[in-house]
Amino acid sequence: MPVGATLHVVPTGAPLGAEVRGVDLRSITDSIFAEIYRAWLDHSVLLFRNQQLSDADLIAFSRRFGLLDQAPIQENGRRFVDGHPEIYVVSNVVENGVAIGSLGAGEAVWHTDMSYLPDPPKASALYALEVPSAGGDTSFCTMYGAWDAIPEDLRADALRLRVKHDGTYNSGGYVRAGVTPTDDPRTAPGTLHPLVCAHPETGRRHLYLGRRRNAWLEGLPLDESNAMLDRIWETATAEALTWRHQWRAGDLVLWDNRCVMHRRDAFDPGSRRIMHRTQIKG
Ligand code: SIN
Repeated sequence: MPVGATLHVVPTGAPLGAEVRGVDLRSITDSIFAEIYRAWLDHSVLLFRNQQLSDADLIAFSRRFGLLDQAPIQENGRRFVDGHPEIYVVSNVVENGVAIGSLGAGEAVWHTDMSYLPDPPKASALYALEVPSAGGDTSFCTMYGAWDAIPEDLRADALRLRVKHDGTYNSGGYVRAGVTPTDDPRTAPGTLHPLVCAHPETGRRHLYLGRRRNAWLEGLPLDESNAMLDRIWETATAEALTWRHQWRAGDLVLWDNRCVMHRRDAFDPGSRRIMHRTQIKG
């Protein structure tokens, strides 16, 4: 990108997401990075098409946002790229009888990455190396919009409650390695977070939901908690609050994990999908 040029940011038309055009993420200046950062805070999800990133390039770009997490442990143990423990592999591909990544080819339900931890990553960057010709789309949902849309009679309670984010299952429904499965959210491993948060950089209020499975509103009987969570989740994941991305190889999507949830459609298990992901600490 020429010196002095500014970014071409094209909003998706949905309540979140924008495509950033005309930028090669291998060679950005500090001022272009500052514009990318601003656009990311404004739109919560950014799409960069036609990138040609090596693993080192993906790490270098991600590190501009902050320190990187190590790849999390998943259903089939830690899956990362040799020599790059920061790169988590999302894939259904099996080589020599061994899965090269996690999450398989099934649906990944709505979630926030690693919110079962006390200090989840602020951002995730997902880079597409191989994608199926159909299926495997990833959708994003604005948690700012979810707070704005929450029914009036739930707002006061929502502001004072904390929600348990379960650490038992991942978004593919698999039990995490080393965890004893339980379906009682009160005793399951996980972390309590406020249900409504103020974004530390934009100051805007948003819901912070994590995953629906095994969630629990602290202090409420399970049936009351489930009834309230069901209403909140129905509002928060309404299609009007979402943007769906259909992948091409070379796409990099960067989302703000604090104020966005995401989910993935299932795809043909006979096709190949390989994505490399980094996660950036707050
Ligand atoms: C994820 O949940 O981080 C993976 C999303 C995807 O595979 O598109």
